[in-house]
Amino acid sequence: MLAVTADARVAVRTRALTKVFRGFRAVDAVDLEVREGSVHALVGPNGAGKTTLFNLLTGFLTPTSGTILVFDEDVTGQPPERVARRGVARSFQITSLFETLTSREHVELALQGLTSQGFRFWRSEKLLGRDRARVEDLLEQVGLLRLADKPVGLLAYGQKRALELSLVLALEPRLMLLDEPTAGMGIEDVDRTIELIRRIAAGRTVVLVDHNMRVVGSLADRVTVLQQGRILAEGPYDEVRNDERVITAYLGEADHA
Ligand SMILES: Nc1ncnc2c1ncn2[C@@H]1O[C@H](COP(=O)(O)OP(=O)(O)O)[C@@H](O)[C@H]1O
Ligand SMILES: [Mg+2]
Repeated sequence: MLAVTADARVAVRTRALTKVFRGFRAVDAVDLEVREGSVHALVGPNGAGKTTLFNLLTGFLTPTSGTILVFDEDVTGQPPERVARRGVARSFQITSLFETLTSREHVELALQGLTSQGFRFWRSEKLLGRDRARVEDLLEQVGLLRLADKPVGLLAYGQKRALELSLVLALEPRLMLLDEPTAGMGIEDVDRTIELIRRIAAGRTVVLVDHNMRVVGSLADRVTVLQQGRILAEGPYDEVRNDERVITAYLGEADHA
């Protein structure tokens, strides 16, 4: 785990960040501070507002009020592609791969999409040798190189999630937001994913939502507990997990594996 000093730079800072859906405060006056270079976990019961907070931080939702600074730059209300240009990339809670394309093709598309929003399917130029090496390097990093040319539909679930991580990595983000990267995984895939995230977190900032306390405990420098859109507790994992309010609100029901 990274040692983080009190005066470390801040990757994300929100002030009174709020999102109201038809009168319902999904994210309610959240002051979040994520230190640069840290792995910061966001936990809390279903419906606590974790995904909504991710959507706000990445520009997929516009806040009702409050501000968002990313690397000291005010990105409040900016669309996803502008936030992405600040070095922010995310994974989604729900898998969104194309079953008939191979892993290699997915990574190629991710790299080609770097210059614009999303994938640019109409571009069909041959990849340069340099790009080809980059594709293979990304696949190698997530352990998929030997399966590079298999249609994704034939991959195991954990391999698909690993591929999604490589697509996030392709963007060379300074800040990665991972929404439940181990959701639905068996124990072996969870362990592999912990190691993978640890590796790709080096030199970056990672904000991670996960329900598995083993994942949070092994990776997170700091933990923020959300409940009903508000911050219930925050601190190092060992401190937060012994917090009575957190145990009552959440950990009592969470996966302690
Ligand atoms: N687009 C939306 N419209 C209305 N309500 C929403 C929308 N997105 C999320 N919510 C509500 O906001 C709350 C927080 O949801 P979410 O951020 O997905 O929670 P979590 O990821 O912590 O499980 C939930 O009650 C959810 O139903
Ligand atoms: Mg969610």
